[in-house]
Amino acid sequence: MKLIKLRCLAIAILLFATCKKYEPPVAPTNVDFTLNLDEQANSNLKTKGKWMAANSIIIIYAPDGKYYALQQTCSYKQCNLEYLDNSQLVQCPCHNCMFEIINGTVYQGPAGIALKTYNATLTGNKLQIKSK
Ligand code: FES
Repeated sequence: MKLIKLRCLAIAILLFATCKKYEPPVAPTNVDFTLNLDEQANSNLKTKGKWMAANSIIIIYAPDGKYYALQQTCSYKQCNLEYLDNSQLVQCPCHNCMFEIINGTVYQGPAGIALKTYNATLTGNKLQIKSK
């Protein structure tokens, strides 16, 4: 019996020692880049309801006619987010978190941390993504 208790204690110590504290992803900072919407690679952003990702940022041309830009990695466990068609939300394919594209707030957990958002400004056919 004493041997079993020692084994359990050793396993518990081993599990505790290998357990890492979770660190939320670091959102891109000092962002300032421009996408030419005339280029084929960026042409999705000419159609409402479409999206793309560039430089770890998800960029959406929403049905409301506005552009939104948010960090691409989920604040929960770092999966890449995807735009939820015809909505004002991005969704994580790993555990189904959802975030508001307008301000990055959590719409549905398990995430508890909002996403970083960026300014998205269209001038002609050039879309500038910049830190706020
Ligand atoms: S990593 Fe985003 S919900 Fe799981």
